Amino acid sequence: MQTIKHILIILFFMSYSNKVKAFVWLQQDIEQQVDSLMQKMNLEEKIGQTVLYSSGMDITGPVLDKAYKDHIKAGQVGAIFNATGAAYTRKLQKLAVEETRLGIPMLFGYDVIHGHKTIFPIPLAESCSWDLELAEKSARISAIEAAADGLHWTFSPMVDISRDARWGRVSEGAGEDVYLASLIARAKVIGYQGDLKQNNTILSCAKHFAAYGAPQAGRDYHTVDMSEIRLRNTFLPPFKAALDAGAASFMTAFNELNGVPATGNPFLLDEILRKEWGFRGFVVTDYTSINEMTHHGYAAELKHAGELAMNAGVDMDMQGGVYKNHLLQSIQEGKVSEARLDEAVRAILRMKFKLGLFEDPYRYCNEETAPNILMAPEHMEFARELAQRSIVLLKNHQEVLPLAKQQKIALIGPMATDEVHILGSWAAQGDRAGKAVSLKEGMEVHGLRFAYAQGCEILKDYRVGFEQAIALAKDSDVVVMAMGEAEYMSGEAASRTNIQLPAVQRELIAEIKKTGKPIVLVLYNGRPLDLTWENQTVDAILEAWFPGTNGGLAVADILVGEYNPSAKLTLSFPRNIGQIPIFYNQKNTGRPADAEGAHPRYSSKYIDADNSPLFAFGYGLSYTKFIYENIALSHDKLGPNNSISISVEVTNIGDRAGEEIVQLYIRDMVGSITRPVKELKGFQKITLQKGERQTIRFTIEANDLKFYNKDLEFVVEEGDFLIGIGGSSEVAMKHSFTYSNK
Ligand code: GLC
Repeated sequence: MQTIKHILIILFFMSYSNKVKAFVWLQQDIEQQVDSLMQKMNLEEKIGQTVLYSSGMDITGPVLDKAYKDHIKAGQVGAIFNATGAAYTRKLQKLAVEETRLGIPMLFGYDVIHGHKTIFPIPLAESCSWDLELAEKSARISAIEAAADGLHWTFSPMVDISRDARWGRVSEGAGEDVYLASLIARAKVIGYQGDLKQNNTILSCAKHFAAYGAPQAGRDYHTVDMSEIRLRNTFLPPFKAALDAGAASFMTAFNELNGVPATGNPFLLDEILRKEWGFRGFVVTDYTSINEMTHHGYAAELKHAGELAMNAGVDMDMQGGVYKNHLLQSIQEGKVSEARLDEAVRAILRMKFKLGLFEDPYRYCNEETAPNILMAPEHMEFARELAQRSIVLLKNHQEVLPLAKQQKIALIGPMATDEVHILGSWAAQGDRAGKAVSLKEGMEVHGLRFAYAQGCEILKDYRVGFEQAIALAKDSDVVVMAMGEAEYMSGEAASRTNIQLPAVQRELIAEIKKTGKPIVLVLYNGRPLDLTWENQTVDAILEAWFPGTNGGLAVADILVGEYNPSAKLTLSFPRNIGQIPIFYNQKNTGRPADAEGAHPRYSSKYIDADNSPLFAFGYGLSYTKFIYENIALSHDKLGPNNSISISVEVTNIGDRAGEEIVQLYIRDMVGSITRPVKELKGFQKITLQKGERQTIRFTIEANDLKFYNKDLEFVVEEGDFLIGIGGSSEVAMKHSFTYSNK
């Protein structure tokens, strides 16, 4: 009877040949399947679905705590993370599917943050490509490799906006700008999830909800306190973009927000995420973040913390064991309703059905798949392409770059032969044992004439290598110094109170400087550094970030000019740590220091440094040069029902082809709350041959001007606006238009 009904439903919808209606039917089918399964589940089995445990890792490979295996067989585990490999996940899945009463398959999750086995540049680097297609493709390939390795779910994308380089996790995000970070968040979710019915797509997880990127003093896990206006205008939009793209899950943040831990915060998890945004995925905590509500001083003990979390809207407990050990009693005491538990379980089961795990729980456990997929040549080639487009040329004095093949090069520094740190933090199953391509290997591929001396370690205060490095430099035409942070100096739990290069590295640079040879500084780092001294000392600076498995080759491609660098910063580089937080779209203040007639003393500035960053958002050099001319507006009156077309002529006046990221900024001159001095509202990445001129067009509509006002209404207000278009956020705002609601 059920089958006939299904056939009739399909026929009915096919007569409309409307995919959306068929999709609704499939959804109803999933809802019906969820309903019928829920009716069979007892309370313990429902609670089991809310439990997420971590597999361990032994030298022999992943291992699972025996107690966890018993819990799985008792139907008390809904998901496992950190278990990889089709064979191992099949083994664990069999326990859930074949040894429990209802055979509900588990989810297997993992931190596939910037690649799975083929590691791509860290997300901050990738964002500097400003290339949404590449961002989507790196997520797609990550999903293909992760799925081949038995995984259903990644704890990515991390969509935390941050303007604080002291915070190590800026390395995992997409920089300081809401508009760009929101577009990247969307691209990542689409890349990971695609059509979840395919078995090479995985669930995404937007994290860390919310405002984790604004910790007090840049110290990880520290207190976050801000107005709802700032939360909604700056920190929430990338999460909303991820949700609108279909993000299957959200992860709660460790921090408190305005006195309430994010993991027990009904304003975030219920009011905004579910009621206002209509989220139908599931919410997982961060690692034991339910338990940590006792440390926050928000829960008296673990059972109370579990009740706060579940009632706020948390569906799954990562590694805390709180739901496992206390939720049954909380429900029996009426502290948590079974209806709320049902909501949580429904959200989790919905995603398992969407992945097709009930049709075939082992559809991701094909051991034959991985060998041909993991680090496939086309994945490695893409890793090179993405790294090339993520590396930012910050300085190139007297065009010391690109290097000439016949030049005698001294390659110096601890990162020159590095194949470990180059992958950055959160490198999943990336190979740090020889499969990554170092800069030295990349230079060998290009047949460059060079000799190498390490010179110093990354951190250790040894100078034993200085002499050899100095001698090598003296006997060269140009010195390439590969320096930077160790991968563990950024990422989670890696906040720094000093964001300069380690002292021993700066001393070596100073010694090499004394040789009088031109210095090209190549940086591997996971955050903006204070490069004020280096910028005065060396001739060229190439910001390579942590460029991934094929990163050394990509750096060499740029050093020799095979690829003309095109990346632009998505996070401001401060002149020193005292400027932090620093970002381009700041407010003007009542005493702007750059205003005409500003008081030489009594204006908003420092007495010991310029207000501007050392390198601004949107900044990055090329080996060629672009000029912008003839910015023109189709008209200067914008209303609710029309748009303005803006054009600009961009010309490549250099001696080689190059890519340019053309950026459009807008300023709202007067608002019911003060507005930023400029905001990115559009960009286009173009390629121009030598001498070529292109006319680039943007369209502005009322919706592009909206913001949350003091009444938390998302509005556009009447008044004057300025426009600037150029190759960085330091563009002059010279053209104007007026918006009127009439
Ligand atoms: C970590 C991180 C989070 C990660 C999770 C699982 O503490 O905060 O980003 O996804 O635990 O590894």
